[in-house]
Amino acid sequence: MSKRAAILGAGYYAPEKVLTNKDIEKFLDTNDEWITSMTGMKERHLSEKGQPTSDLAVKAAENALKNSGVKKEEIDMVLVATVTGDYVWPSTANVVVNKLGINGVPSVDLSAACSGFLYGLTSARAFIESGIYKKILLIGAEEFTKVCDWTDRKTCVLFGDGAGAVVIGEAQNEEQGILSTYLGSDGSKVSYLMQPGGGTANPLSQEVLDKKMQFVYMEGKEVFKQAVIKMTASMEIAMEKAGVTAEQVDYFIFHQANKRIIDSIAQRFLVPEEKLIINIHKYANTSAATIPIALAEAMEEGKIKKGHLLGFSALGAGFTWGGAIVRI
Ligand SMILES: CC(C)(COP(=O)(O)OP(=O)(O)OC[C@H]1O[C@@H](n2cnc3c(N)ncnc32)[C@H](O)[C@@H]1OP(=O)(O)O)[C@@H](O)C(=O)NCCC(=O)NCCS
Repeated sequence: MSKRAAILGAGYYAPEKVLTNKDIEKFLDTNDEWITSMTGMKERHLSEKGQPTSDLAVKAAENALKNSGVKKEEIDMVLVATVTGDYVWPSTANVVVNKLGINGVPSVDLSAACSGFLYGLTSARAFIESGIYKKILLIGAEEFTKVCDWTDRKTCVLFGDGAGAVVIGEAQNEEQGILSTYLGSDGSKVSYLMQPGGGTANPLSQEVLDKKMQFVYMEGKEVFKQAVIKMTASMEIAMEKAGVTAEQVDYFIFHQANKRIIDSIAQRFLVPEEKLIINIHKYANTSAATIPIALAEAMEEGKIKKGHLLGFSALGAGFTWGGAIVRI
């Protein structure tokens, strides 16, 4: 058998501090009823000042290593999917290898916003299946609450902080493995969802700060529409490439951006609620971290077990999108 990459284990971490919809009601013109009915979110985790994205990434990585029975010395590449890294540069992955005590190992960030984990999964798969590396630590880690305008009710209520990680290596049996991956992007819609200030298009200046361009900007309705279309298509293509049907998939983990988006996709494939892994009520949208957090949490709870067939799909700013079929 030629080499096939597989997820060997998963771990996650969310900061201790929890902000509920009721808490937000106290300082913003919004309410629990609106947020719950429009998004499915009830609470989100908030990182502290002085607790950068790399701290969450390292904790998730340590849990993933423990759960997969892989020693950190065996890791020969670290990939971090994030758009809310510690610094503009260098990469957060670079900080992570130092904090994990594995300096020398190649490390790099992937910037594909909410579909970053699937870009990472595909990249890790390619490195493993080509024989270049044997064990890769892939982490999705974000602190969106630090790049949100907490006076803008249209965006700030939607996001939370957290990290999820997986160890990817060679499949240990004939069944296990990443059976298919699919990625796509369309750069004509970058302006629908972005953090416009602070890069080279709009370098930090008083004007940029006054216009609040350092924060998340989103045209919600268009993003919603694209999310349903692209996540549905990505899931369909990934299933087709793997030669499996929706009935054969044990659990679907769709990017947790809005419960209504998840429900629309599930409806398209006639997926019953019990086959959906949903934790958006607890974490809100943690961008590149939603899929690995949901995976690790469901594995910890014993819901997802060895042998289960999983479907993933996500849409991120850009837009970027992707899907995957994985047997654990
Ligand atoms: C954000 C989202 C829930 C908003 O839903 P929507 O149907 O587009 O709602 P709108 O933004 O048009 O707002 C509808 C009304 O609710 C109000 N509103 C917006 N946010 C609110 C909030 N937090 N609390 C109370 N009211 C709010 C608006 O001001 C508007 O009021 P108006 O009609 O009086 O002007 C939805 O657009 C969405 O989920 N988009 C996709 C988000 C996403 O997936 N992002 C990440 C992708 S990776």
